[in-house]
Amino acid sequence: MNQIDLDDMHSMVKAFPEMLVSIQIPKETRDLCVKLREVGLRGICVIGMGGSSIAGQYIQALLRESATVPIINVHDSNLPAYVDNSWVTIAVSYSGNTEETLASHEEAKKRGCQTFVIASGGKLISDDKIMSCITLPSDYQPRAAFPLIFSAVLHLVECLIGRELTDLSMIRETLTKKVTQWEASSMAPKVMAEDFLYSVPVFIGSRHLSPVAYRAKCQINENAKAIAFSSEIPEANHNEIESFHGENDHSVLPVFLRSVFEGERLMQRFDITTEIYEEEGFRPIRISIGSSSRIEEALLMTYYLDMVSVELADLRGVNPISVDRIMKLKSSLKQTE
Ligand code: PA5
Repeated sequence: MNQIDLDDMHSMVKAFPEMLVSIQIPKETRDLCVKLREVGLRGICVIGMGGSSIAGQYIQALLRESATVPIINVHDSNLPAYVDNSWVTIAVSYSGNTEETLASHEEAKKRGCQTFVIASGGKLISDDKIMSCITLPSDYQPRAAFPLIFSAVLHLVECLIGRELTDLSMIRETLTKKVTQWEASSMAPKVMAEDFLYSVPVFIGSRHLSPVAYRAKCQINENAKAIAFSSEIPEANHNEIESFHGENDHSVLPVFLRSVFEGERLMQRFDITTEIYEEEGFRPIRISIGSSSRIEEALLMTYYLDMVSVELADLRGVNPISVDRIMKLKSSLKQTE
């Protein structure tokens, strides 16, 4: 990979397109996946926390219409009872030392699952056989390693379910082109970040853009140290909509992540929800990035919102790299072991 300054979140986010194509699944691992498919795997469980968990959520949403076995995500230290030795688990932890991920991974091994790990080091790597291990380059922030983790999980799951591997090099080209267009338009990430400076964004997605909404919330939390929320349509039409009324706090900013693949009914839901929020005095933002595939659309929007989150960190005068409270919590918990 070209020079990436690992002390600078701007530099790591800028390298998103390149990172997307820098992990290759070794042939032995791909062969193992084919073998597992042939013996009849019953499900795929992606284990991970925080920045290491989000890729699994994207893959679940993106492949839900093509996967013939369930793909589930576990963000906890135990596994559902139905995950047995006919399941495959993929434990993702950038550091390789996250307590909950290690616990669920150990549980998977005890149950006789075929276990894969994706990590840059730590206990997770040293524990496992080389064939079922994908080692990430070290010294990134876990959340900045998203494109590396995404490509590894995507290709692993595609091998496991017998789906042709997505060509991420085409997507890399589009991402690189788009960034120049955004910078030169009213969509410039710096301009968008200004809208978030004095308001609390609620990112609202649907289907494959629901995890993108969640990722945006987490990036604003961790990079810009600011409060943000996320939700999804249609579910938000049955609860959250009731909180968007005139007597409530107008510093809340609904940010609708609109897909070109919505279909008529979902489009109507988004449009009517937007109208209702406007009538109640809110000023929703709509973000839409045209694309030829769902995977590309999700990645384009993620790349864009990642850039917005670091611009917001600059505007707020905070360091997007540091995660002091996460570290404090982890070290306090360690002392209680
Ligand atoms: O972004 C972060 O630093 C966190 O959300 C971490 O990803 C999270 O605490 C889990 O750690 P790891 O990714 O090392 O498993």
